[in-house]
Amino acid sequence: MYTVTTLSAFLLVIFSTCQFVSGIAINKRIAVPAGYVAPPYYPTPHGGWISDWSESYRKASLLVSNLTLAEKTNITAGSGIFMGRCVGNTGSALRAGIPQLCLQDGPLGVRNTDHNTAFPAGITVGATWDKDLMHRRGVALGEEFRGKGVNVYLGPSVGPLGRKPRGGRNWEGFGADPVLQAFGGSLTIEGVQSVGVIATIKHLIANEQEMYRMYSLVQPGISSNLDDRTLHELYLWPFAEGVRSGVGAVMMAYNAVNGSANSQNSYIINGLLKDELGFQGFVMSDWLAQISGVASALSGLDMSMPGDVHTIPLLGNSYWMYEQTRSVLNGSLPLDRLNDAVTRILATWFQLGQDQNYPPPNFDTNTQDAEGPLYPGALVSPSGVVNQFVDVQGTHAEVAREIARDAVTLLKNSNNALPLKPNATLKVFGTDAEKNPDGINSCSDQGCNKGTLGMGWGSGSARYPFMDSPIDALNARGASYQFFNTDSFPSNSDPSANDTALVFVTADSGENYITVEGNPGDRTSANLNLWHNCDKLIQDVAAKYSNVIVIIHTVGPVLMEAWIDLPSVKAVLVAHLPGQEAGNSLAQVLFGDVSPSGHLPYTIPTSESNYPASVSLVNFEVGQPQDTFSEGLYIDYRHFNKENITPRYAFGHGLGYTTFSFSNASITSITPLTATPPTRPAKGETPAYSTSIPPASEAYWPDNFNRIWRYLYSWLEKSDADAAAAVANTSAKYPYPDGYSNEQKPGPAAGGAQGGNPALFDTAYDVSVTVTNTGTVSGRAVAQLYVQFPPGITFDTPIIQLRDFEKTDVLEAGASQVLSLRVTRKDLSVWDVVSQNWVVPDVAGDYGVWIGGASDTLGLRCGTQTGSCEEGVASPV
Ligand SMILES: *[C@@H]1O[C@H](CO)[C@@H](O)[C@H](O)[C@H]1NC(C)=O
Ligand SMILES: *[C@@H]1O[C@H](CO)[C@@H](O)[C@H](O)[C@H]1NC(C)=O
Ligand SMILES: *[C@@H]1O[C@H](CO)[C@@H](O)[C@H](O)[C@H]1NC(C)=O
Ligand SMILES: *[C@@H]1O[C@H](CO)[C@@H](O)[C@H](O)[C@H]1NC(C)=O
Ligand SMILES: *[C@@H]1O[C@H](CO)[C@@H](O)[C@H](O)[C@H]1NC(C)=O
Ligand SMILES: *[C@@H]1O[C@H](CO)[C@@H](O)[C@H](O)[C@H]1NC(C)=O
Ligand SMILES: *[C@@H]1O[C@H](CO)[C@@H](O)[C@H](O)[C@H]1NC(C)=O
Ligand SMILES: *[C@@H]1O[C@H](CO)[C@@H](O)[C@H](O)[C@H]1NC(C)=O
Repeated sequence: MYTVTTLSAFLLVIFSTCQFVSGIAINKRIAVPAGYVAPPYYPTPHGGWISDWSESYRKASLLVSNLTLAEKTNITAGSGIFMGRCVGNTGSALRAGIPQLCLQDGPLGVRNTDHNTAFPAGITVGATWDKDLMHRRGVALGEEFRGKGVNVYLGPSVGPLGRKPRGGRNWEGFGADPVLQAFGGSLTIEGVQSVGVIATIKHLIANEQEMYRMYSLVQPGISSNLDDRTLHELYLWPFAEGVRSGVGAVMMAYNAVNGSANSQNSYIINGLLKDELGFQGFVMSDWLAQISGVASALSGLDMSMPGDVHTIPLLGNSYWMYEQTRSVLNGSLPLDRLNDAVTRILATWFQLGQDQNYPPPNFDTNTQDAEGPLYPGALVSPSGVVNQFVDVQGTHAEVAREIARDAVTLLKNSNNALPLKPNATLKVFGTDAEKNPDGINSCSDQGCNKGTLGMGWGSGSARYPFMDSPIDALNARGASYQFFNTDSFPSNSDPSANDTALVFVTADSGENYITVEGNPGDRTSANLNLWHNCDKLIQDVAAKYSNVIVIIHTVGPVLMEAWIDLPSVKAVLVAHLPGQEAGNSLAQVLFGDVSPSGHLPYTIPTSESNYPASVSLVNFEVGQPQDTFSEGLYIDYRHFNKENITPRYAFGHGLGYTTFSFSNASITSITPLTATPPTRPAKGETPAYSTSIPPASEAYWPDNFNRIWRYLYSWLEKSDADAAAAVANTSAKYPYPDGYSNEQKPGPAAGGAQGGNPALFDTAYDVSVTVTNTGTVSGRAVAQLYVQFPPGITFDTPIIQLRDFEKTDVLEAGASQVLSLRVTRKDLSVWDVVSQNWVVPDVAGDYGVWIGGASDTLGLRCGTQTGSCEEGVASPV
């Protein structure tokens, strides 16, 4: 999502870009490496063939058959950037009862508004490993978006997946593993959509770094070059689960894949998303990611956002709207494709029940004022009430606080330094412990790292209604503390032997349109180090105090080697990005009201050189920057395990104030495996419409229409519409891409339902395990289930891969709980690029199903061949 906060800043960007263009012409294009191809896939499969959606498609098709051409093309595009209250506002068809749809950021809360909740970020949710909290946050988010009158929630983000530890937006998603992302994403979708809000899974696909992501006048966006198996087994996996959960919308990423822009990549949209994954909703571009008109429609794009051309927006130019009308009249864009796009949008609207009593927007993303211009993008605009300050918070602070608390991840705890005694005398260091003194929302889109870090920056941020800082929480508890609000060690802290030192430190990142302390989204200059030279702060505190607790608010992995083994550094907590609930959630853990139960959603390395070179950030290249995913499946822990590199803390690591055992496990075969899944079901019926080109009169401007300057409309001047219609009768032909066809296909073997062939999601094995609290205080454990493929198979496969997890309730000391986990057919399959299907490489082979509390402490193994489970086995990694 691209945005700027003020119109003037935006214009400045545009004009500086123009100067750049007039001065330099860059045409050289670095070629995609040999072997990477973006194959054609046409036509766009019609939506509506899945029975869960039939009724919504039936209702939509009745409406669509009654719409004029200009009404249809009004619905498939936004009315222009800054041309309404939301970050995206589609055109309406009021005659048919279809309002403008409001699309709004972001994944962790309603952006740029008031009386909202600033929820913990995705990475924090991932660190809870708690499916119930993932779902409850989704419901709460849905209630807030609905309460503000938003039709389409622009979240969750499951791409970036976290391939690059320095990538700017990894924190918006749930962790560096496809299965963790998949549960985080799909449970968010199910929660949000349960209250009638359309969720948008994003960004499809392989958008793993911020720099050079966008197509501009001077440079094509970065190309992620990756092979088919890696795409299926890592990056597409969470999208498949999101589609399986019935997600209503998908947002295409800015970048290219194999040299072809995602927003017009027919293989990805038509082939993978709409045919193989059976996606029934609609596909939108990321903001200004659309780079063509007819070509993007043919490739499967259904909605252009925010409607403007990507080169110089805000001038009233669009690839769609009136141009799309023209392209239908002149015979280039088959009406069939437009009808499908409109039907998909309206079917989704019906599917979520938005035709009944859905509230219109009552806020304005462009201003905090009560009144303002209705169309800020128009230099002259009528004004009116734009913000009604509707309080949508309900009791959502509770779930936010619970997530922030249950995400807190204890990495180290020597001598039981934690929990703190109630009478502890505390010396608190670090500016992160207290709110930004300039104001909690003083940096637009949180584009600074000042004060308590509750979220990263960019369109994935929200304004804080309040910030419960760690210092607030110490005050609320009446703790005895002294605070030194500085990131350099103060000379006046007067160390005493009884003191416990709490050191608050951060690492931040965000979206590319804002640069913070030299980091343009990605952590280019900070690298994986703590910000504000806080390695030194910790070292200095550790030199003077013997009992030091480090608390880290971070977007992702940070290096700890400079201080982690210092004898005074007794305990380390990662509090991730807690949103507004930074204080009490942490204090409850610090003081032992609850035992920490978070687990790392990524690996913490000992050095950046632990990673494969191919996951470092790609720098400027003339032409199209190329980012080749040559590490394949080996990202994060898959790489560390393969190369036998011991990280500082492994994926899934997390201690508590108590200990747990995993025992008495059992494995039960449910659906017998076969080498390939059973044949997919055939597609159901889809709506049929007349395909003849409508009369040009359906596109004529109405008489006496009061036009807003630079607003995007779908009508054409009569002369233009007539001229376009005349072209349809000439021999002039649109240059259809190679491989273009307009004939619907039965669909690939790997498809058949939302998410793919439904048999992929059959449970192959049920696994149960008894978790016992073997310590002295109550706490919650996470059972993580990893699959190890049988030896001797022909596919090179990571040693272990996460496939499921469950978290216990709060267990008293000595108490047990039986947890149920499952392994699906897909979990035991690999993507076979030759047969283009998921295959079980060795049906009779002995899969290891490993269970434990972290990826490096898996002591319990169930075998699919023996059908039994053993305890006390050496961990496979
Ligand atoms: C990219 O190219 C690779 C190598 O030819 C191929 O396996 C893969 O399917 C292509 N992916 C896309 C999305 O075009
Ligand atoms: C189609 O439009 C006509 C006239 O505008 C209206 O009377 C009729 O109810 C509409 N049908 C549907 C299904 O919307
Ligand atoms: C398109 O949407 C705009 C904004 O709601 C509206 O003013 C206009 O009348 C719509 N056009 C058509 C053809 O309905
Ligand atoms: C029809 O109109 C579209 C949109 O302006 C344009 O891209 C296309 O080239 C036109 N087709 C022909 C045959 O002129
Ligand atoms: C805190 O209280 C405990 C007993 O509850 C005592 O052992 C300890 O010395 C006290 N610590 C301080 C700093 O007063
Ligand atoms: C540390 O705490 C103990 C117990 O409260 C107290 O007796 C002692 O004087 C304290 N030491 C210092 C240096 O403050
Ligand atoms: C062992 O697990 C089974 C479920 O598989 C459960 O019913 C039983 O209570 C467990 N036994 C113990 C001792 O935990
Ligand atoms: C196109 O040709 C058809 C059939 O020859 C004719 O009926 C129609 O009026 C023509 N349309 C235009 C816009 O010339």
